[in-house]
Formats: sequence, C-alpha cells, structure tokens
Amino acid sequence: MNKYAIIGGTGAEHLLSSAEWEDILISTPYGDVLLKEADFEGEKLTLLLRHGEQHQYPPHLINYRANILALRNHGVTDVFAANAVGSLRIDLPPESLILLSDFIDFTHGRPLDLGETSKMTHTDCSEPYSAELRTTLLETSAEIGTPLFPRAVYLCTNGPRYESPAEVRLFGEWGADVVGMTGLPEAYLAREANMRYACVAVVTNYAAGLDAKAIRHEDVENIMRQKNQEIFELFLSAIRFAKNNPSQ
Ligand code: HPA
Repeated sequence: MNKYAIIGGTGAEHLLSSAEWEDILISTPYGDVLLKEADFEGEKLTLLLRHGEQHQYPPHLINYRANILALRNHGVTDVFAANAVGSLRIDLPPESLILLSDFIDFTHGRPLDLGETSKMTHTDCSEPYSAELRTTLLETSAEIGTPLFPRAVYLCTNGPRYESPAEVRLFGEWGADVVGMTGLPEAYLAREANMRYACVAVVTNYAAGLDAKAIRHEDVENIMRQKNQEIFELFLSAIRFAKNNPSQ
C-alpha cells in the first residue's frame, strides 16, 4: 500500500494548525528527524518541514540525507514536495504554481548520495521527477481548478544568498525556467531511496535582474504563506485521486 508524505518549504510551519499532528522522531545514521503525522481519510499522512518548525535550517544546512532516510524508513512511498522559486521567465509571474519536470544541480558541498553502502551508487535521473505523480498532480489540478504550469527546469543554487543578474542570465541560457535553493539533492536522494517524488514550485519573485525590485526574504515568506494552503489542498486532493485510481 502507498504511504504518502508532504515536504513543506518556507512558510509551511503554518500548516501545523491544519490538523492534529503527532510528533514522530526517527533516528537515522545522519541524525534524528522530526516527522509529523495526522489522520487523512482513514490513513496516516506524514509531513516534513524541511526548514524545521522554527524555520531554523537554512537551505545549505538542511539535513537532506537524514530527511529522506527518515521518510523511507518510516515506510513512505510517495512524496509531494513544495519549493519557493524565483522565475527566470517573464511569462511565469509571481504566485504561479509550477510542476517541475527536470533539474540542473548547481549546488556544491551537499551530500551526493545516501551513503548507505560502501558501493558507489549511480542513480538514474533520466526522468528526475515521478511521471505517475506528475500526471496525478496535473489531473487533480484540472479537476479542482488550481492552475498548474505543467513542466519546468529547476536550477538549484546553494544559497542562502540570492543570485546576481549575470547568474540569472546564464541560468536562462542553460535552459532553466526557475531557480531555488532547496529542491536538490532532495529530489535525487528520494529517487535513490526508491520513493516516488514530485515537486510543485511556487514563484515568489522574478529572479534577480528580471525586474527592478530587490529580492527580500519577507516577500518570499509572504507569498509562500498565501500559497501554502492552496498547495496543501492540491496535494491532499492528489492523494485522494491516487487512492481512488490505484493504477496511478
Ligand atoms: N532565487 C533562489 N531561491 C529562491 C528565489 C530566488 O530568486 N526565490 C525564492 N527562492
């Protein structure tokens, strides 16, 4: 049976008031991870706040390996993740919801694999995000009337600083559509752990240099706060849809 988890990003702490969440502490070789669990239509739904309950982990200090191992060891099979991003495209304005389809890894110094065996792991990334979960999300978004842009290339930087305009121009030339700081290595560690993983990105701003405004974390947080409930409802509807359509 499938077991679903949601990974929330910036501002997702506010989702904790949406249900009676129970704390579940999972130990991994890389440290302990606090998961949350609540009843959802007769089954347990797991929630992981990537930045911690007090937003205490900045992008480069998130324990990506421990997070993914904790979810996998807890029996999770399917992960719906949310990420804040800057848009590299004028036609994808702030507040757009975007389903990621591919990535470029521009991080450094982060764990590259789960390190579970002494053998080298070569994870296939030819379809980096789960095709089945992506289809489920697209069909669900159409059904519930939540606009979801169907594909985008996500470029992940190390952060925590935002990009320079020259970096943004370069990333655009490379074929990236959106830029964020926390989607990798999470996505490919989930693949290595054999979990299905899909990610909905929320555009919180145009990337540096695309408009005249400076990027401020408070603005990113404000948009995420507004949009998190919508994404959460999209994920819950997608889980309901997947349970009623077991082929997906
Ligand atoms: N760059 C990187 N990460 C982000 C941005 C951005 O412009 N906006 C929200 N997360």
